[in-house]
Amino acid sequence: MNLINFKGKDIISITELSKEEIDFILEYTKKFENLEECNLLNGKVMASLFMEPSTRTRFSFDSAMKQLGGNVLSFSDPDVTSLAKGETLWDSIKMVERYSDVIVIRHKLEGTARLAAEAANVPVINAGDGTNQHPTQTLLDMYTIKKEFGRLDGLNVGLIGDLKLGRTVHSLASALALYNCNLFFINVGNLEMPRYVLEVLDERKAKYEKHNFLDLQKIIPKLDVMYITRVQRERFPDTPDGAYDYEKIKSIYVLNKKILKDAKPSLRIMHPLPRINEISKELDDTKYALYFEQAKNGVTVRKALLALVLGAKNE
Ligand code: CP
Repeated sequence: MNLINFKGKDIISITELSKEEIDFILEYTKKFENLEECNLLNGKVMASLFMEPSTRTRFSFDSAMKQLGGNVLSFSDPDVTSLAKGETLWDSIKMVERYSDVIVIRHKLEGTARLAAEAANVPVINAGDGTNQHPTQTLLDMYTIKKEFGRLDGLNVGLIGDLKLGRTVHSLASALALYNCNLFFINVGNLEMPRYVLEVLDERKAKYEKHNFLDLQKIIPKLDVMYITRVQRERFPDTPDGAYDYEKIKSIYVLNKKILKDAKPSLRIMHPLPRINEISKELDDTKYALYFEQAKNGVTVRKALLALVLGAKNE
């Protein structure tokens, strides 16, 4: 494997990584699969700036950093930082970079990670910016698919649910467009894949079909992967109309054994999590369920990414 140098590189959007770079990261991640706790990142500090709720991304980054011997700076709530006193994010990042070697940031506003990367002289990793991008989620999703199927090419992948406001599907669709996949976009309500994502797919000559949720039953037998997402309640307008729209849409879809009656035995269900109603718990112990394993892979992929951007070599 030819080592690609990621030292000092920001990871802001998956669209900025080439196929060669993605393949390299996925291959390099294997070296971290059974790695015991070690001192690879001894003396390095990761600033963990989560200004939106998170369980998986935050804990898996923290766990990855600590297992590699590094330290983590974080806060329990952005309101306990000087942002609450009116300090700009730019100035806050200018401070944090002086206390850390890498910054991981999540924020509800699109473009925040990019702004942080412009302010910082240490690498910045986007842990999710609004409805825009979640590049490290995509890398762990692709790692999980490749680990399960041995390949990314030639698979039929259904992206299902809130395709408009869910950043994970925006990143994943853009990255899978570099491979020879057939993509099936199945939106609920009017939550369709945005035009700007489709433009990336068109540039990359991706093969995709757009469907409404009513087509799901017809498409299930074709699918190798069902990647289902929750409706992003927090991104609906905070008005009575917004609440009504959300309630109307959220109970439309629940995956259960009955819906999967015509599925391939090799079908795997993925979900970035958290789930709300989209997957019945009766599927958790079936061969189809890959979502908890997917989340577990987040630690391995994030170990590899931290080592890469910090220039630490795991030979
Ligand atoms: N998949 C994901 O981003 O989960 P969290 O919001 O819990 O980090």
